[in-house]
Amino acid sequence: MSDVFRIGLIGCGTIGQGVVRIIQAEAGEIERKTGVRLELARVVDKDPAQAAKVDVPAALVSTNAADVFNDKTINVVIELVGGTTIAKDFVLAALSAGKSVVTANKALLAKHGKEIFAAARRNSCCVAFEASVGGGIPLILPLRTGLIANRINAIYGILNGTCNYILSEMDQKGKSYAAALSEAQAAGYAELDPTLDVNGTDTAHKLAVVASLAFCCDVDFGALHIEGIDQLDAIDLAAGKELGYVCKLLGIAQRTSDGISLRVHPSFVSRKHPLASTGGSFNAISVYGNWVGHTLFFGRGAGSKPTASAVVADIVDIAIGNAGRTFTQCRMLGDVTAPPKYVPMEQLRSRYYIRLEVVDRPGVMAMVTKIFGDRQISLKAVTQHESAAAASDGSAMVVVLTDVAQEGQVQAALKEIGSLDIVREAPVMIRVVEEHEEYPT
Ligand code: HSE
Repeated sequence: MSDVFRIGLIGCGTIGQGVVRIIQAEAGEIERKTGVRLELARVVDKDPAQAAKVDVPAALVSTNAADVFNDKTINVVIELVGGTTIAKDFVLAALSAGKSVVTANKALLAKHGKEIFAAARRNSCCVAFEASVGGGIPLILPLRTGLIANRINAIYGILNGTCNYILSEMDQKGKSYAAALSEAQAAGYAELDPTLDVNGTDTAHKLAVVASLAFCCDVDFGALHIEGIDQLDAIDLAAGKELGYVCKLLGIAQRTSDGISLRVHPSFVSRKHPLASTGGSFNAISVYGNWVGHTLFFGRGAGSKPTASAVVADIVDIAIGNAGRTFTQCRMLGDVTAPPKYVPMEQLRSRYYIRLEVVDRPGVMAMVTKIFGDRQISLKAVTQHESAAAASDGSAMVVVLTDVAQEGQVQAALKEIGSLDIVREAPVMIRVVEEHEEYPT
């Protein structure tokens, strides 16, 4: 006889419908593999038509989440509402009712993880959140178990499928930003509000969740430096391509002797970089441990099927008792760890791609290079192109690649250059990210 495990699903949108489909299709196979019979007990959505799309029997559908919390036969609550307000109330209500929670909600965990994990511990429940980062890619579980022997030194992640889709369609097929974004939305990769994808916030939410676990600390979301792809210009993607780079939106967490550095920004990586070939809605996350070295997690980072796959994995993990035990033992989450020391962005050391639109006349290059030189910024390459506007206004596009320099100095140099009357537009800067040293000495 198998154990029946009854599920209360709250939120039956793109991911919720994927969860219903998997349970409908795979409950028998999952029972054969685990001895646990998954059963949908209740599906809640403010729009009952959503559940009807995936043939949930009308008797199981409700518009009232209390129907889940008050049902003593329900073993687990799946929160797929999204956002940080109602979702938070639902999660806390479920935990108060003594029910463990599975969530894909990275925004909620990034902002209120500490409070939610503490509530789970108080109520002898657990919160499982594999689907919150990297869609279908198992990443949370390996960080808690398979990599436990390691001190994690760094994480470099392509963590947003929408942005990666847009950047690769622009790079490989020459599509416009707007066309690629519409396609990502139609494919179900984007958040309800796609601003959160393209302005880097979604990547930052995921980075905060993962960094907290990897570095065993209570990450303050406000401490992250966040830039998205919404300000990128196709000119720079093309200029980077000429130099052998591809642009990726990376979430980067690094442990340094001065503290931890957490940042999200467009990054030029060499075409040979381990993350360079990750295209479309795929995510890839490089994790560097002091014993294991480089591990790379790859897979579909967004969309109904992959994300629902991770949600169902968490349900099963709770049903068989693993998740509860690991959560109870786990001393890596924000509610039981201390805040870290953060490395300010100005102290970052990186290489930089810089584009300047300048007046094309003698002495201009010398003025610009002097400003870099005065700030100890060494230049690796300087190229001048006739800019698109050159024919009409005599301007030139200058692309500078720096050697490793300090961010604070680069920002100051760009401010000074930007104030020169020979500069036609605000300088553009994109950080060049090198492959992380596997075993730093
Ligand atoms: N909007 C997210 C993305 C979905 O594009 O990656 C997965 O969290």
